[in-house]
Amino acid sequence: MNRRRRVYEGKAKVLYEGPEPGTLIQHFKDDATAFNAKKHALIEGKGVLNNRISEIIFQRLGEIGVPTHFIKRINMREQLIREVEIIPLEVVVRNIAAGSLATRLGLEEGTALPRSIIEFYYKDDKLNDPMVSEEHITAFGWAAPGEIEELMSLALRINDFLIGLFLGIGIRLVDFKVEFGRMWENENMRIVLADEISPDCCRLWDMTSGEKLDKDRFRRDLGGMLEAYQEVAKRLGVLNENRPPKGAGPVLVASNGTGKQS
Ligand code: TMP
Ligand code: ASP
Repeated sequence: MNRRRRVYEGKAKVLYEGPEPGTLIQHFKDDATAFNAKKHALIEGKGVLNNRISEIIFQRLGEIGVPTHFIKRINMREQLIREVEIIPLEVVVRNIAAGSLATRLGLEEGTALPRSIIEFYYKDDKLNDPMVSEEHITAFGWAAPGEIEELMSLALRINDFLIGLFLGIGIRLVDFKVEFGRMWENENMRIVLADEISPDCCRLWDMTSGEKLDKDRFRRDLGGMLEAYQEVAKRLGVLNENRPPKGAGPVLVASNGTGKQS
């Protein structure tokens, strides 16, 4: 078997050296973690679903002009990506109060926010990814002021697009986390969307039933995580499966109707 050099291993993904300089292979694992990996389980098939879900979302974002690291899917669990220098920030966009925002500000989960809110967290597991302000980001040199502007503008474009994409398949986009990287082309640097967008890093609520179709099923011990991810994949048209998810799964509200296997 081909022995590849492992460049980085995270909680849910592994990055291997790619076939050409400047490329990497992003491998999606089945590991589910929460609370900075204090809680950990293997959810068989999760990596395959996230690979497909993230692929279609990155492709669609690329089509509307959002630069991303994605090149192509290689197999069930892997995609070819461009190597970037990851900006050490988790950029969270929120439309509806939930999770840590609801707790921090004493808001009832489900309350619509007056407008979309962007938050930054410093990517450092040892510190539990603390929330940081633009002042911290520029003072410590994690990103320059112009880069922060670019991150915010990209995050809002991604949010607008994803709200519509999910609305069309009967899902409310509550919040999500994205990561960005710097990519150099000769002398020019571009900020591109990196990492993944999947139910691991979004809150997705079924519009009719309110059912959670994301990693909160794992964080909150609700069960049915894989079925929820399958439902999202199915509605996005990346899972050609007529078999209904096990148990009392969410109701299929709408489908984009393409049934496309790309
Ligand atoms: P939070 O409410 O826990 O701060 O999460 C906000 C969003 O960010 C939610 O969609 C889940 C996502 N998220 C991650 O992807 N990784 C993380 O480590 C955390 C804490 C949240
Ligand atoms: N991603 C974090 C972890 O793996 C936390 C989370 O998503 O809730 O622990």
